Amino acid sequence: MPGEPPWWQRGAIYQIYPRSFADADGDGVGDLAGIAARLDHLSELGFEAVWLSPFFPSPMADFGYDVADYEDVDPIFGTLEDFDRLVESAHARGIRVVIDWVPNHTSDRHPWFVESRASRDSPRRDWYVWHDGAADGGPPNDWKSEFAAVGDAWTFDETSGQWFLHSFMAEQPDLNWDNPEVEAAMHDTLRFWLDRGVDGFRIDALQRLAHDPQLRSNRGKARRHDQDWETMDDRLRGIRRVVDGYDDRMIVGEVALDDLHRVVSFLNGGDQLHLAHNFVFAELEWDAEAFEVSIEDFERLAEETAWPAWFLSNHDKPRVASRFDEHGLGPARARGALLLLYALRGTPFVYQGEELGLPDAEIPPDRVVDVDGRDPERAPIPWRPPSQAGPGAGFTTGDPWLPLVAGAEQLNVQTQAADPGSTLNLARRLAALRRDAPALQIGSQKTVHAHQDVLAWARAHDGDRLLAALSFAAEPVPAGLPPELSGEAELLASTDAGRPGGAVRLADLRLAPGEGVLLRLRPGP
Ligand code: GLC
Repeated sequence: MPGEPPWWQRGAIYQIYPRSFADADGDGVGDLAGIAARLDHLSELGFEAVWLSPFFPSPMADFGYDVADYEDVDPIFGTLEDFDRLVESAHARGIRVVIDWVPNHTSDRHPWFVESRASRDSPRRDWYVWHDGAADGGPPNDWKSEFAAVGDAWTFDETSGQWFLHSFMAEQPDLNWDNPEVEAAMHDTLRFWLDRGVDGFRIDALQRLAHDPQLRSNRGKARRHDQDWETMDDRLRGIRRVVDGYDDRMIVGEVALDDLHRVVSFLNGGDQLHLAHNFVFAELEWDAEAFEVSIEDFERLAEETAWPAWFLSNHDKPRVASRFDEHGLGPARARGALLLLYALRGTPFVYQGEELGLPDAEIPPDRVVDVDGRDPERAPIPWRPPSQAGPGAGFTTGDPWLPLVAGAEQLNVQTQAADPGSTLNLARRLAALRRDAPALQIGSQKTVHAHQDVLAWARAHDGDRLLAALSFAAEPVPAGLPPELSGEAELLASTDAGRPGGAVRLADLRLAPGEGVLLRLRPGP
């Protein structure tokens, strides 16, 4: 229908971290069959699409972000047939499937790297970034791994006497995207999954896909040489052309850059990314003004073609409930964050467990498995109370690969589903409101002057006017709305389960700590 927004603008996209979502075969690690068995959960939450973190064959040094074969499924997650079945069942419910594409690096066990490493004369030598050491015997330049614990982004290879580049772990050698053969081979991996019916890709570590081909050090330079080189834009255009060869597909980039202007530039031309994960926004302090400025900055920089996407959590970041837990307000703020994501103009990305308001798990030292401290936010989803389902909480009948969150007895899906005031039911309500209100999907947006600790914004479409307000304060505060917003409004949702529904006098509106409200304004004169 003309005027209808594309699917990736309409509703929320749900990130599944397959290892921790649902385990169908009892080995303690989640799998594709587990996801397929839990699609009801996603339907009830009205998700437009899922994004699956990597499920490809991998030695799991970085839990799947070290891919050893781009065109298969790791046995721990199932088979290609399981994947096809999952796509089919998701599509039957109107849920699209977006997969993670890790183009910057492979596993060191990928046959391409094994061949590349074998000798300096290998036909695939130039598929990776090899260089002689510096005069002092150290690495070729000063580039560092994104993981602090790894240190230098270079490892010396004894066999061939050269160093190879790895922007992450040494088990994740960087592909050489300056070599057209690499680019072509990677485009083929996109076609493999597009032909299988996937609806889009999340591009992992996008900023690393282009670096200075002369490998100059960062030190003493006005800009970084190890990422976001000017070859980036054409590289993205090439990827976009492949995806545009198919109907109605979408690419979203993990753009971990702190320059919002640059982030938005990947969206403005309409020939690179459809969506960008905005790390400037995701890394803000819990502060009303900071959020307001960041939201307005995006709108200011965005041209007609650029559509925002909003996220606050993923498998790499402490969860909202733990990150912003000053004064014990984490759980309330996690609910407020959901309202923020659903009511802003743009596509909400919800990380599994956010719909339950999960905190991070406590990981005892002997259970730590990740190189970069990210185990706490990767704890398995509790589906049922451990008192009924055993210690696996319905996630697994075996031993879960990571400990579950404390409080699984109350926070699990089954218990929350039965409680009208739960975070899960709030998430369902927000999704339903968004589905039914074009003002939330495609309406205009304007921030509204309010109390200094309150972020307020208005959405409007076709005479329907909505107002959202979210308190960042640690004590109850008046919303402090301007005089033109002092009349009556109808409460559509509050993150505070205790607030009575019905009419609200805006002039008297007060917000509890962490509370967010969504209101419908009475039609104006
Ligand atoms: C991205 C992923 C992260 C992974 C890294 C290397 O940042 O989100 O989990 O470790 O890329 O692939």
